[in-house]
Amino acid sequence: MRKVIIAGNWKMNKNISESIDLANGIQRSVYDVDSVEIVVCPPYTSLGDVREVIASTNVKMGAQDVYWEAEGAFTGEVSCGMLKSVGCEYVIIGHSERRQFFGETNETVNKKTKAALKNGLKPIVCVGEKLEERNAGKAFQVVKDHVENSLSGISKQDMLNVVIAYEPVWAIGTGVNATKEQAQEIHKYIRELLAKMFDPEVAKSIRIQYGGSVKPDNIAELISQPDVDGALVGGASLKVDSFVAIVKNCV
Ligand code: 13P
Repeated sequence: MRKVIIAGNWKMNKNISESIDLANGIQRSVYDVDSVEIVVCPPYTSLGDVREVIASTNVKMGAQDVYWEAEGAFTGEVSCGMLKSVGCEYVIIGHSERRQFFGETNETVNKKTKAALKNGLKPIVCVGEKLEERNAGKAFQVVKDHVENSLSGISKQDMLNVVIAYEPVWAIGTGVNATKEQAQEIHKYIRELLAKMFDPEVAKSIRIQYGGSVKPDNIAELISQPDVDGALVGGASLKVDSFVAIVKNCV
């Protein structure tokens, strides 16, 4: 019922020619995959060129952030309309690196998510606890805070276009992924929260990705969990072979 979604978050990597090569390599290798939704999220500077590469393929594109205002004097920011016009279907919102380095809060994540939905972009909303929070037994509490406050005031109908990415901060870029049990326990908890906030049917339809040191050799066991519906991949999305292997291990 929930189609698996594998998204590559390229972060601040790849110039234009490198982006074209990576997108091309991916696109050529996954043309026959239809059971997995495949998304690449290049940096802003490469969106226009990657759009050309993936046009008429089964690879979709997302951005890594967005601003909530439509236009105006907001130097350095990019609007939802701009992302739509360059061919984005998705946008990552509230990544832990933005929360950590760029002052992103649940409140700004909420504003961005609402703006994305209003403009027909599908948000991938990131949540997840830090190591010290997990060690203090606060993982559930932090995830609850992120989910409830990042998604407050969104209609049930709009929620059907939201993807949630559970990315425990301690697993990002560390090579230490959450075990399948750790991932499943939080994903199940997120789905229960969604059932309370919206309704059980909506909760059943929403895809929850896992992110944090996802690799070709751990994706199969993660994706085998009942509430893990895909992955948001960082490092392993920067090479054709590893990203494609992750996608193919979900088929
Ligand atoms: P890594 O896959 O490099 O751990 O990054 C995960 C991530 O932050 C994806 O958004």
